[in-house]
Amino acid sequence: MTTETAIEIAGLTKSYGDNPVLQGVDLSVPAGTIFALLGSNGAGKTTTIRILSTLLKADGGTASVNGFDVAAEPAKVRRSISLTGQFAAVDEILTGRENLVLIARLRRLSDADAIADNLLARFDLTGAAGRRVSTYSGGMRRRLDIAMSLIGDPPVLFLDEPTTGLDPQARLEAWATVRQLAGQGTTVLLTTQYLDEAEHLADRIAILHQGRIIANGTLAELKQLLPPAKVEYVEKQPTLEEIFLSIVGDDDRTAARSQS
Ligand SMILES: Nc1ncnc2c1ncn2[C@@H]1O[C@H](COP(=O)(O)OP(=O)(O)OP(=O)(O)O)[C@@H](O)[C@H]1O
Ligand SMILES: [Mg+2]
Repeated sequence: MTTETAIEIAGLTKSYGDNPVLQGVDLSVPAGTIFALLGSNGAGKTTTIRILSTLLKADGGTASVNGFDVAAEPAKVRRSISLTGQFAAVDEILTGRENLVLIARLRRLSDADAIADNLLARFDLTGAAGRRVSTYSGGMRRRLDIAMSLIGDPPVLFLDEPTTGLDPQARLEAWATVRQLAGQGTTVLLTTQYLDEAEHLADRIAILHQGRIIANGTLAELKQLLPPAKVEYVEKQPTLEEIFLSIVGDDDRTAARSQS
């Protein structure tokens, strides 16, 4: 792990009409780490990712990715990143291999077939490579989706809710994939509503709430925000969910959710 910064955001603002979604977001993601951006529905996670991936312009503030300013050098940013959106972007009618070859050709890489075979092997999809994606399970689709985003070896990967809709086994597989990528030096910024995902996967965690980052640190640092509850002689550490709810407060939805 290096101490280089892969993503730097300062004072980022963005409104949709009179809805101020980002109101001065500051964030710094060290290269080669997994960073989780947590937030409730509508907190602005996807908006932040879309600004970082140059799909959307911020109203104010600055953001740089891989050393390039998103506003001033969008082409260089795009060459440095890959984005796996909140909804899988695989083509159902094509086979897994055809999806990969298509993207490799679109990116004008000369050895598209070899790249596809290599990724199929890496994501444990070789056996299903010749099958139409419409026959894949949700976990296989997600793995293919992530594999497609790695074509061209981007140093920075954005994963918007990478495991939403996956069963527990498929989630574990996706986590292993993300860990492996970070181990190879890729910087991963992921958004999630699953607090255990952030807890298990991320090197650092930030909570986006009401337009700002209201907590940011390692899990251990966030745990220090709440004192451990003493239950007789057993020390109970707060879970990330308890920390999240304590910081974010309990509007009706979070209150309802925490009771389930
Ligand atoms: N194109 C748009 N036009 C108007 N409002 C938008 C647009 N995109 C997002 N919003 C609003 O901005 C806010 C933030 O949306 P965003 O998609 O960034 O949230 P999110 O944190 O990704 O939520 P989720 O967890 O549901 O994916 C929401 O209130 C949303 O309704
Ligand atoms: Mg979103």
